[in-house]
Amino acid sequence: MSTLIIKNLYAEVDGKEILKGVDLEISGGQTHAIMGPNGTGKSTLASVIMGHPRYTVTKGTITLDGEDVLEMEVDERARAGLFLGMQHPAEVPGVTNSDFIKTAMNSRLEEGKSVNLFKFIRQLDKAVEDLRMNDDLPHRYLNEGFSGGEKKRNEVLQMKMLSPKIAILDEIDSGLDIDALKVVGENVTNMKSEDLGLLLITHYQRLLDYISADKVHVMMKGRIVKSGGMEIIKRIDSEGYDWIKQEVGIDDVRVIEEEEEARVMLGQCATREALDL
Ligand SMILES: Nc1ncnc2c1ncn2[C@@H]1O[C@H](COP(=O)(O)OP(=O)(O)OP(=O)(O)O)[C@@H](O)[C@H]1O
Ligand SMILES: [Mg+2]
Repeated sequence: MSTLIIKNLYAEVDGKEILKGVDLEISGGQTHAIMGPNGTGKSTLASVIMGHPRYTVTKGTITLDGEDVLEMEVDERARAGLFLGMQHPAEVPGVTNSDFIKTAMNSRLEEGKSVNLFKFIRQLDKAVEDLRMNDDLPHRYLNEGFSGGEKKRNEVLQMKMLSPKIAILDEIDSGLDIDALKVVGENVTNMKSEDLGLLLITHYQRLLDYISADKVHVMMKGRIVKSGGMEIIKRIDSEGYDWIKQEVGIDDVRVIEEEEEARVMLGQCATREALDL
């Protein structure tokens, strides 16, 4: 069983501070959900955990089973067992889906070793079938021309093949039709075990109707402002976020409101000048 511990994490992009003191602990066997209004830092947190080079951590720690994650390169994090199913999976023309997955699996093995091709194909075929994906999807270029729902299913396909210790699924439900949501939900639920810690980022309760969560966190202004059980999600679904904003005393939930305001003001001044007003 693995444990990911995030303590007082601050991170910025292009000099803008986006994460402002995130604390979170996820262990194998647990499923956590993070909710929160748009632009509050949820995907940024996922990117920072995975080591996206655009983000700079300025304070705080991330450890996986005591190992310093922030010291690891992106590929080392993946090898250590971290996985991210992205909100907007990138298209990679020229690399087939199955080659991509095979390479990712091989990179997790000791040097010189590689996955057994026959086993790999059997496992991939089964995963494709489990996810009710089109047979041709493994052989097409990664995400190129995939529909929104196909891209999301494909993230889960990768997760099934890679068997991560800690998996973050960022809005895995967006773009899925109701049948696909059920299929994805069942597949993720079937993967649940003591060896997998899950972090689901979502806007809607309906995902959690299919994948039950033990803990729910709400993110505002770049940090987790409230944690609890499923009751939080039910209330958010029916009432929105105002009650949490009031409870926490936050008016604007976004992380970069000040900068945005300044930009708007500057823009207005420039426009006024240009218009000679
Ligand atoms: N690479 C970047 N460059 C500039 N701004 C960024 C970058 N990444 C994130 N931000 C800004 O940081 C804020 C938080 O973004 P993030 O994607 O983490 O939000 P989110 O909570 O995932 O929102 P959503 O629910 O809409 O997916 C946003 O205002 C966003 O524009
Ligand atoms: Mg997001």
